Amino acid sequence: LQALAAGSRPDFLIGAAVALGPLASDADYASSFVNNFGALTPENAMKPQALSPRQGEYLFDEADALLDLAEEKGIAVHGHTIAFSEAMPRWMRELPADSEEERAASAEILLDYVTTVVTHFRGRLDSLDVVNEPFDVDQGTDLQENVWFRVFGPTYPVVVSQAVSAADPDVRQFINENGADVPGPRQDALLQLALDTNEQGGHIDGVGLQAHIYDLDTDAVSADDLSATFDRFEDAGLLVRISENDVTDDQGEEAQAEQYATVFETCLRSAACVSYTTWGVDDRYDWWIDDDRGLHEGHDLLFDDGEPTPAFDVVRAVLA
Ligand code: XIL
Repeated sequence: LQALAAGSRPDFLIGAAVALGPLASDADYASSFVNNFGALTPENAMKPQALSPRQGEYLFDEADALLDLAEEKGIAVHGHTIAFSEAMPRWMRELPADSEEERAASAEILLDYVTTVVTHFRGRLDSLDVVNEPFDVDQGTDLQENVWFRVFGPTYPVVVSQAVSAADPDVRQFINENGADVPGPRQDALLQLALDTNEQGGHIDGVGLQAHIYDLDTDAVSADDLSATFDRFEDAGLLVRISENDVTDDQGEEAQAEQYATVFETCLRSAACVSYTTWGVDDRYDWWIDDDRGLHEGHDLLFDDGEPTPAFDVVRAVLA
């Protein structure tokens, strides 16, 4: 897929979220990935709970192994993620923030985490989610009041973005969110957050739109709405990544493939959309299967047991 895109959009990246386990142990998975994708997002290996499960200790082995493999194959890496309510180790989640003194001490610890991690990866990441899922779940438009919010206040993305820039001035910085794929209040909030962050001294290059399509009745996105979305971010001077696309096959493989084609093609044809990433490679390891929220059990990605799915074929046809 990546090679086919090179003619029309040389800088466009087609990526997938991957885990080291199957990459190292499953030859089908590894070849599906390296033969088709030009970008890699570590599915879990760069989340704070993976990098620093105990305060002051860092475990970089898995992330570094993914970086080594990517570099060996000429694959770009998208880092995921710094400030994220969901994937923090307990020590970070519970840093005290009740008094001025506590906030100052916790601020130092959090900034030290950002600096240590981004310095470790400096020069090796093409882009990075500096903030992931900032807004309240279930389509909220208020910031989640996580430890970053409690310690730094509502402008915490500015502080995180500046610390990232100081450690790696070249990495492209993104704010990533779900449920903001089409115009509406949540997308308005995401656009505003990116613009406000930059106005206050941050360095956000763009936004990530996750595009998890769990239910085609409620989450399906149209080409018109997606184009309007890309136009709006482009007009605001921001890039867009489709960052975590996966599509249910609840209404059959044809409906699934059609939705994949719409998202992929609209992104590919928009100058603002710089990359398209699926959240996983092969249905054998699809995160929905294990997810305790029980969102869906199924066939959602471009490969299934090492074989390309109908969705893969439509994506390839868009590139042909
Ligand atoms: C998911 C992983 O895929 C799972 O393996 C893990 O158990 C939970 O997190 N939005 C995100 C990703 O930004 O970090 C999530 O990844 C999927 C939803």
